[in-house]
Amino acid sequence: MSAADQLLAQVKAHGVVPRHVAIIMDGNGRWARERMLPRPVGHRNGMKAVREVVEAAIAAGVGVLSLFAFSQENWQRPATEVSALMALLEEYIQKEARELDEQGVRVVFLGDLDRLPGPQRGAVDRVMALTAHNSTLVLNLFISYGARAELVRAARLIAEDVAAGRLAPEQVDEAAVAGRLFTAGCPDPDLLIRTSGEKRISNFLLWQLAYTELHISPVLWPDFGRAELYQALVDFQSRERRFGRVSA
Ligand code: IPE
Ligand code: IPE
Ligand code: MG
Repeated sequence: MSAADQLLAQVKAHGVVPRHVAIIMDGNGRWARERMLPRPVGHRNGMKAVREVVEAAIAAGVGVLSLFAFSQENWQRPATEVSALMALLEEYIQKEARELDEQGVRVVFLGDLDRLPGPQRGAVDRVMALTAHNSTLVLNLFISYGARAELVRAARLIAEDVAAGRLAPEQVDEAAVAGRLFTAGCPDPDLLIRTSGEKRISNFLLWQLAYTELHISPVLWPDFGRAELYQALVDFQSRERRFGRVSA
């Protein structure tokens, strides 16, 4: 049995599997630099890691997998890197759409999708429509996403509803905000993984991570695979989640 299979057996034996796992996929640039390769080669290898982790999440019984693929701030990277990432996005959808559908994956893109170039926007819309009926795994792909912008958008939607008389100010509660986020209807992440050893949130899911368990992995994203995911699940199983209360 491989190390990954052993870890999966351990996860299954324990039995508690996070319903929703979120990942900040970081370290592609450093992975390429270590090999004296251009950064886009790191991103390309990161795409392979996505494939492996999606399969591993399904095997473990995770219900929702959220991947931070491109932040709103990432638009400020050099134009060559941004266009390489956009090309990879389209290639990923082209190559994987059918298999994702066959695996029962519902692909959802979240973020300011209006900023995507035409071909990418088209590909994103197509794969979402193709897989909308699936339920084995929900794969949330965050593209052109920033959590503060998401919260501002929710505030604006609430203001519009109040101004139009559809919502009274005293009806503005946590459910009213959560229901206007891109993640409306999705449970909050139970576990957040960040790769490449960085210890920050980088404007990801600021509202939804309120009580999420954090797992920082030193592994660079292109090297992250089944074994690393299962290791994070084993780590999660050792946590005591108290939600502000005292131990049972
Ligand atoms: C993560 O890898 C991918 C994106 C943010 C698009 P990076 O490109 O941030 O890699 P590092 O952090 O420079 O190593
Ligand atoms: C966060 O990584 C965004 C994604 C993984 C898509 P960054 O590499 O952009 O974050 P910082 O700059 O290290 O905070
Ligand atoms: Mg980075």
